[in-house]
Amino acid sequence: MDKTQITIIVGSQWGDEGKGKITDYFAINADYVVRFQGGNNAGHTLIVNNETYKLHLIPSGILYPNVISIIGNGVVIDPKVLLQEIKNLKERGNKVNLKISERAHLIMPYHIAMDEALSGHQGELGAGSTKRGIAPVCADKAYRHGIRIGDILEPELFKIKLKKAYDFNIGIITKVFQSSFTQSIDEIYDEYLGYAKELKGYITDTELELHKAYKNGKNILYEGAQGMSLDLDHGMYPHTTSTNNIASYAGVGSGLSMYGVQTKIIGLVKAYVSRVGVSPFVTELEEEKAKELRDAGNEYGTTTGRPRRVGWLDLVQVRQSIRTSGITDIALTKLDILSNFEKIKVCIAYDIDGERVTEMPASLSKLRQAKPIYETFTSWEKITEEKSNEFIKNGYTALPEKMKEYIEFIEQEIECMVNIISFGPKRNQTIIK
Ligand code: GDP
Ligand code: IMO
Ligand code: MG
Repeated sequence: MDKTQITIIVGSQWGDEGKGKITDYFAINADYVVRFQGGNNAGHTLIVNNETYKLHLIPSGILYPNVISIIGNGVVIDPKVLLQEIKNLKERGNKVNLKISERAHLIMPYHIAMDEALSGHQGELGAGSTKRGIAPVCADKAYRHGIRIGDILEPELFKIKLKKAYDFNIGIITKVFQSSFTQSIDEIYDEYLGYAKELKGYITDTELELHKAYKNGKNILYEGAQGMSLDLDHGMYPHTTSTNNIASYAGVGSGLSMYGVQTKIIGLVKAYVSRVGVSPFVTELEEEKAKELRDAGNEYGTTTGRPRRVGWLDLVQVRQSIRTSGITDIALTKLDILSNFEKIKVCIAYDIDGERVTEMPASLSKLRQAKPIYETFTSWEKITEEKSNEFIKNGYTALPEKMKEYIEFIEQEIECMVNIISFGPKRNQTIIK
């Protein structure tokens, strides 16, 4: 991690680019790994020594016992899911070196019911949410009747706050959406006081801890969730999630100021694109070809198991991510999957009503009309175990010439270095150029 103490990993597409894998890869040099936004809508997969770990809330540095994992104030937490994740890791013999910001907001059962009701209401202007309660918890935070994890450690205050939030949410669920909600306020109160007992030891002032760590020269690695096109402000609104996920949110979602601080910002780009849920998708493949790519890349959601929509790499999207996050390095993942196709395409611009557009438009109607302008490449030979080992041993020069051509073309088009290359799901199937 050279002199730079802060590294931020962000998704540059619609999520599932391999952020978990790359975070785990770099976590070996980190003192802290921090989640700063999103919630358990995220699903991050790590494969180490043939063991698979699926994480939703716990940062992907957790497999290193000396790394401190932090869930920052910007994350929204479903305590039931978090406790299950902690339990799973402990049962597998992993040390859970975890600290949770007392300022992080809690997903409550009524948020999940509200998410379900909202999804029906929003129809084609919805995002196809993961139904984990993300939009409602973020809305309650902005309404200022959200419940922070620190609140459940103060039972009297929690009771008063819960009453306000419960009445508000249940009113909307039952009266506006005519849906039912059966859990009583007392049941929720008792359930969450139970979580408080189990989580108490992890909850602390992580903002202060990170500040001190930075001052003491520690290395801090930030792990983004979701991807740029799902960012609340810069993504394809309203088909987004409800948190910001571009790199500048790392400061907000962890309480560590990054002004004037040297940062390395790694943008995760999958060599093709996948999308779970609703939105325009300019490079989406027709179902027959999509199925081939989906199965080759195992593009089924880690969180929901839903089949992901898939398409060719879209550099208009990547350009926006580089610009909005200030990306210094691109990690290109799943290059092995493209060897299943003889010809592969890369979208370099959109054709919108006869006009060539190279930067992402904000207008939903323009995005719906956009047609991809492609450059076509010949793919490379299948990456066998033997080939993979050769790449690991000899690095970039050992990669197939056609793959290098493809990578170097991308670099030119986006004016950013592609210097982290991933050709398999395992931790060691990664090379630095
Ligand atoms: P995240 O949400 O960005 O962390 O990504 P996910 O973990 O949800 O999805 C990425 C999937 O691709 C996971 O199943 C990873 O194990 C897998 N993966 C990551 N990098 C590679 C790669 O280079 N090649 C292959 N074949 N799989 C990869
Ligand atoms: P990771 O971190 C892929 C998508 C959902 C939906 C939209 C809004 O694994 O990359 P939400 O439940 O957040 O209100 O859903 O965002 N979405 C993701 N898609 N990967 C993710 O996370 C996602 N998190 C949210 O499918 O379209
Ligand atoms: Mg994922």
